[in-house]
Amino acid sequence: MLGRMRIIIDTDPAMGTLGGDPEDCFAIMLALNSPELRVDGITVVQGNVPAEKGYSNARHLLKLLGREEVPLRRGVLRPMNPERKIQVGWLERRYGARQITEMVEPEGEEADAVSFLLETVLASPGEITLVTIGPLTNVATAMQRSPEFARSLKGIVMMGGTAECAGNISPAAEFNYWQDPEAADIVFRSGADLTMVGLDVCHQTHLYPEQVQECARAGTGLGAFVLEATAPWFEIMAAGAGSEMLHLYDSLAMAVAIDPGLVTLEASFVEIEVGEGPAQGMSVSYHKPFQRTIFGRPATNARVALEVAVETFEELFQKRVLGFIGGES
Ligand code: RIB
Ligand code: CA
Repeated sequence: MLGRMRIIIDTDPAMGTLGGDPEDCFAIMLALNSPELRVDGITVVQGNVPAEKGYSNARHLLKLLGREEVPLRRGVLRPMNPERKIQVGWLERRYGARQITEMVEPEGEEADAVSFLLETVLASPGEITLVTIGPLTNVATAMQRSPEFARSLKGIVMMGGTAECAGNISPAAEFNYWQDPEAADIVFRSGADLTMVGLDVCHQTHLYPEQVQECARAGTGLGAFVLEATAPWFEIMAAGAGSEMLHLYDSLAMAVAIDPGLVTLEASFVEIEVGEGPAQGMSVSYHKPFQRTIFGRPATNARVALEVAVETFEELFQKRVLGFIGGES
């Protein structure tokens, strides 16, 4: 394990809950199939789907992958601010989504992702990078519980936010930050080393149904599961976004953890809109120095991704995820 980058994946995996964005599970497969990474654990957070469903989906995926040795923990079940009625309502509605994986209730420590984050990171100061591909509720809760946590992290690579483009869940905000603005605000104020992989680059990535059908032809159980679990999302995207495809948001963030050279990163001061208005959850990125000067924003607190080498990313994804699902060695 010498030289491997130690990571913990914080995720809201919906592959297994029909109608949820299934993409986290591709990112988890990418991480587990990348020799550059050592996955010290997976923590599940509320977001795409309730954490109870996400935990069951992750448990099912690890079993399919033969990787049940990876520590898996269920985390915080609600956004930090219970008064965020729209976000709480989003989650409530997803308790009714049809589940194609068996619901599993974690026991003991497996139901306590925040303690796992604290224990693992504080035991190895400066060694662990968090790759967050869901809302930041677990991470922010850990930061609130221990002032040592943020400064003990090697860094955080986040799928989240926008630097210059429009939002996705709302015209202003990207989903992960929108689903828990207070949590995102805590993380950006924490002083941790932050890399923000936002919609500016994630929206340049695409996965099409034909690609999933192709890798499912190998007839593996994993392929059949991925085919069944992604089909409803492709339909939702066709109806909602006008094209039958999905963006590989979380896999791109995972790929950036593996190879930051995949994207062009700019130093920025990022702040989160935590008001109740229409821009709630928006990430405001002052990556242009003159804007930091005009608005008196202090030194930078993050690096934001503005451009991406899409073909290089897609080759990596094809080899380590689609090829893997298709049974290629
Ligand atoms: O906005 C994209 C993010 O929301 C991704 O992490 C996707 O999985 C959903 O959680
Ligand atoms: Ca996600």
